[in-house]
Amino acid sequence: MDFMSPRTKLQKFIQVNQMKTVIEHTDSGAPQKLKKFLNSKKETILEVACGKGEYSVALAKLYSKKQIIGIDYQGERLWYGAEKIKENKLKNILFLRAKVEFLEKFFKPESIDEIWITFPDPHPKDKRGHKRLISPHFLQLYKKLLKPNHTIHLKTDSELLIDKAIEAIDEVHGKIQLLIKDIDHFVNLPEILAIKTTYEKIHRAKGDKINYLKFKL
Ligand SMILES: C[S@@+](CC[C@H](N)C(=O)[O-])C[C@H]1O[C@@H](n2cnc3c(N)ncnc32)[C@H](O)[C@@H]1O
Repeated sequence: MDFMSPRTKLQKFIQVNQMKTVIEHTDSGAPQKLKKFLNSKKETILEVACGKGEYSVALAKLYSKKQIIGIDYQGERLWYGAEKIKENKLKNILFLRAKVEFLEKFFKPESIDEIWITFPDPHPKDKRGHKRLISPHFLQLYKKLLKPNHTIHLKTDSELLIDKAIEAIDEVHGKIQLLIKDIDHFVNLPEILAIKTTYEKIHRAKGDKINYLKFKL
């Protein structure tokens, strides 16, 4: 699916550790590095499970006055995003190699303006949804970190994830703002949804429909 030989993976993993645009969560100074980058006067957009970071990079290009953080625990994937930062000389974006579970170590409560969740794993077999990044547990975490009444965007091929997200939003008393099933057939599609990640391309190649859910917490 997303093939990388073990050697290439290891090389990228080692290189990513030396890239200044990727913060490594196991470094003792990691929270301070992020703090130094973040300007409280600017809007902050977070992309969770960003993979190779295509959405984060595109958002950074679109919104030069906002600051963008992409988070994923797979360093070898973040390597691609970090290369794009260099190529495009972007100054308003950083990647964080960390698990979403540890976001509170890095962000103050009510400090984030917007969260994007792009093609997270649906975990169909995880009945209680512990790992699903849209489970009530994760939504509660995002709610703490988001400014009150601010927005989360979910883009996914998975109908199961959309259904689970709707249940979870209800459980945490959030509010759905927009649901688009099969974005290709929606008139007046928000421009921002044209960005395509690696996994979006993989799913499109298989003929899967792409869905979008926008909600507030
Ligand atoms: C299916 S991939 C999607 C990647 C990218 N958003 C895209 O659309 O191409 C899911 C990503 O979620 C990341 N991920 C899953 N659970 C995570 C967690 N708890 N914390 C951080 N990243 C996570 C994985 O490492 C993987 O890169």
